[in-house]
Amino acid sequence: MQLDPSAGTAARHAPQTTPAASGPVALPGRLGHILSLDDFERAARGHLPRPVYAYISGAVERNHSLRANARSFEQYEFVTRVLIDMSRRSTATTVLGKRWSAPFGLAPMGISALSAYRGDLVLAQAAARENVPMVMSGSSLIRMEEIVAANPDAWFQAYLPGADAEIAALVQRVQAAGFRTLVVTVDASIASNRENNVRAGFSTPLRPSARLAWEGLTHPRWLFGTFLKTLVRHGMPHFENNYAWRGAPILSASVERDFSDRGHLNWEHLRRIRAMWPGQLVLKGILDVRDARLAVEHGADAIIVSNHGGRQLDSTVAPLRVLPEIVAACPQVPVMIDSGFRRGTDVLKALALGAKFVFVGRPFNYAAAVAGEDGVRKGIALLRDEVSRNMAMLGVTSLDALDPSYLRRAEPA
Ligand code: GLV
Repeated sequence: MQLDPSAGTAARHAPQTTPAASGPVALPGRLGHILSLDDFERAARGHLPRPVYAYISGAVERNHSLRANARSFEQYEFVTRVLIDMSRRSTATTVLGKRWSAPFGLAPMGISALSAYRGDLVLAQAAARENVPMVMSGSSLIRMEEIVAANPDAWFQAYLPGADAEIAALVQRVQAAGFRTLVVTVDASIASNRENNVRAGFSTPLRPSARLAWEGLTHPRWLFGTFLKTLVRHGMPHFENNYAWRGAPILSASVERDFSDRGHLNWEHLRRIRAMWPGQLVLKGILDVRDARLAVEHGADAIIVSNHGGRQLDSTVAPLRVLPEIVAACPQVPVMIDSGFRRGTDVLKALALGAKFVFVGRPFNYAAAVAGEDGVRKGIALLRDEVSRNMAMLGVTSLDALDPSYLRRAEPA
């Protein structure tokens, strides 16, 4: 791992022990301004057609939860320790039986092969090279079999279909493909109110229109480098992984996507999935401590505390606020978290509150869009370097040492 010259004396001691990564990655000159994950968002805003950018960046209704997620990190401040030998600190973390180079991974993101050329594959390959987990979204445009072939350590995230036979067929396909970790998202049985998507002209499938054509023509790097390149080389992308079989195309004047009602899904469905899935089972979208306990009782190997990046019920509590009570209630399983993480400090705060691992979504989607695999690798390296540098300034050499004693509640603004 490259040492940061600004890390002072620590840099003059023995190398850090983080098991990473296959060497530093340089971005093209036009992206020389990228110094943090937030910078990828600014670059992607110019690069992507407005409907596509709106789909990724947006949330629901008044975006209350989106803002609350970002603000939740400001409710905690660090208490640093000093004069601790930091020269051999490590960001390495073990979760679900594997040692990763960092305490974070790539959250599942739908339709990422629309924003980036071969998006899911790019995310999977970058994650493999940087040794962090990548969670493939079921709402994706590349077949899951291709992703697990490129990254055998990838996890698969399913949105459960409505009918029992469809659930069973999907779970069997995920197993046959070779995934060992299945993430079931449980906060999205009902489609949320994405007014921002409607306003920006985004839908699935996208409907051909003069407005959409104009958006393509005014974003030529995306039009030629992502959309047309995909059409020419791979044909029209379809939703490949919501079911055991192929779904709707991403662009069509008339095809409707199968959004059949899934509002009846309940814990009995989870019990059946547990009975048929031999691998690791993770429940994503837990916020209530009672649901966390139920997840463990139903055999979940881990949970992800999440409000879906603020994209489901607006005004849902920020996951960081409920994390401590869920960690206290579920000592048997690793409690992981996502929604709003952008900085090494955010990651360290969650770990100090008891999270075992953190997932980060949108910034890596933007990184894939503007710079492909190198962009995602750069994003991972930036965040990992922040975690490492911040560990040194906080006074911890191992992430296991973090606990709430390193935090204080901030004064109310
Ligand atoms: C998919 O998971 C989405 O939130 O759009």
